[in-house]
Amino acid sequence: MKAIVLAGGKSSRLYPATLACSKQILSVYDKPMIYYPISILIMLGIKDILIISTEKDEAIFKGLLKSGEQFGVNFSYMVQKIPRGIADAFIIAEKFINGEKVCLILGDNLFYGLDLKQTLESAASFKEGAVVFGYPVENPTAFGVVDFDEKGNVISIEEKPKNPKSNFAVPGLYFYDENVVEIAKRLIPSQRGELEITSVNEEYLKKNMLKVKLFSSDVKWLDTGTHKDLLKASNFVAKVQLEEGIYIACLEEIAYNNGLIDRENLLRSAEKYIKTEYGQHLFKLCKGENVVESKR
Ligand code: DAU
Repeated sequence: MKAIVLAGGKSSRLYPATLACSKQILSVYDKPMIYYPISILIMLGIKDILIISTEKDEAIFKGLLKSGEQFGVNFSYMVQKIPRGIADAFIIAEKFINGEKVCLILGDNLFYGLDLKQTLESAASFKEGAVVFGYPVENPTAFGVVDFDEKGNVISIEEKPKNPKSNFAVPGLYFYDENVVEIAKRLIPSQRGELEITSVNEEYLKKNMLKVKLFSSDVKWLDTGTHKDLLKASNFVAKVQLEEGIYIACLEEIAYNNGLIDRENLLRSAEKYIKTEYGQHLFKLCKGENVVESKR
């Protein structure tokens, strides 16, 4: 399976912090926002990861993430010249996807929880069609909203509905079969002028090929769209890391535990980050000291 991290867009809800760079480069507590979605992909063992960004920010992402060797994965980079919508990612990435299944994760979505890996692995093992997730929220009108019956069959999926049929938002993490590129190519822009990811999901629903999965109640999904959300997310990460000693989105740790990098590679990052708690955490791992295993 291939994976795409969509990290473009205008980031205008975070102005002026994002006048000079995209929000996915900003820090969520002690690491760049994009580390969080990437951690999910490394956890799932997906090695071929495409980062889609704006033209202006491509060099920053390349400088930050490089080839991916540090984390045992291969990063490719492509540009979305105009923010034409989330589903545009599949058109841009057609060659990269190359007829395989693909996971799309939005560059500003943060997931955390003990049961996360198990739920995502089960979702990623789908045979055909598409898989999305449902997450209960208080303000569903701000999201894609999925309605489903007691057996988990999707009844409807709508983008930012005025009168939501459920309180389950659709987080920015999706799995698709190889048909997604053709579906995206046939979409027409929505009223707000975007190729909507919800329209892609509606197409799968029409063919009865859209599944929804729910997380266990221990899983947290955090949006980082506004300054308040961003601060909340940073406080959450700081609390877990400082009080529980669990590292969230420590990419080298997840790669090391998944056998994607060796101790030498881990040590290189530990030495580079020696002045930080992140580096100290990696040092402990290198020495085989007991650390609480990182949960995304
Ligand atoms: O966060 C989950 C929600 O994300 C879903 O529930 C919605 O169905 C989905 O439409 C999306 O809603 P948002 O209004 O939050 O999308 P936003 O425009 O903020 O874009 C989400 C991310 O995708 C953000 O990191 C920027 C990036 N993006 C967005 C667009 C429209 C791009 O890179 N290019 C784009 O053209």
